[in-house]
Amino acid sequence: MNPPLAHQPIGVFDSGLGGLTVLQALRARLPGEDFIYFADTRHLPYGDKPESFIQARSQAIAAALAARGAKAVVVACNTATAAAAELVRASIPKPVVALEPAVKPAAALTKSGVLGVLATTRTLTSQRFAHLVKTYAHHLTVLPQACPGLAEAIETEGPQSASVERLLDTYVPPLAHAGVDVVVLGCTHYPWVKEGIAARLPSGVTLVDTGEAVARQVERRLMSEAGLGGHGQLQLATSGDPARVRHTIARLCGVSMHVERWDIR
Ligand code: DGL
Repeated sequence: MNPPLAHQPIGVFDSGLGGLTVLQALRARLPGEDFIYFADTRHLPYGDKPESFIQARSQAIAAALAARGAKAVVVACNTATAAAAELVRASIPKPVVALEPAVKPAAALTKSGVLGVLATTRTLTSQRFAHLVKTYAHHLTVLPQACPGLAEAIETEGPQSASVERLLDTYVPPLAHAGVDVVVLGCTHYPWVKEGIAARLPSGVTLVDTGEAVARQVERRLMSEAGLGGHGQLQLATSGDPARVRHTIARLCGVSMHVERWDIR
């Protein structure tokens, strides 16, 4: 027999392990909930892939999470949200919470009127992002900085690797020179390199990410829909090599976790 709806897990997914930064905020806010986290590592990065590919993957992953009993699905990836949030919402009969670059809170914080947004190419060229800027930051200077290669380098080589340092040296200083006082971390992988980003900006520049806001939104949705309940358990799965993913999680989070392989087509 299935457990009652409130006691079923929350499904969370990303192209890889960036969404773990969102999962951390979710588990901090909702410690009694059970989570299933799926990393689509085999297809990382999403940021340079065609929109149709990300749409197909996002829908298939959401369906797989729902089929494994998820009472709600969190799209812990800005790129997947930009390409597929509405399609995911339409494809499963569960609450779906998606995230997008924190342009709205950043617009409320800036004093210089110049905002930087670090994200993937796919996110920054999406209609959704254009709409976000038009709605909340039309009166400000918004500097979108695409960071090709960064999410992949964080995951495959590590947050402190020479490749990550090189990429940060390319992407961050132009924002500093343009006078930003707020920078949006518009990809869930980037909080893993927050210190490296901050070190390349003048002190006093605020970095904004979305983890906590998403956790609050998930809590609200569950309270009014599926309900809260669980045992604080976490299950991890990947489309890639579980041993590799386990190694990357150990490097990022300092814990050794069991990782399953799921074939999602
Ligand atoms: N973590 C993802 C995001 O929030 C994307 C990384 C990628 O696969 O390119 O946009």
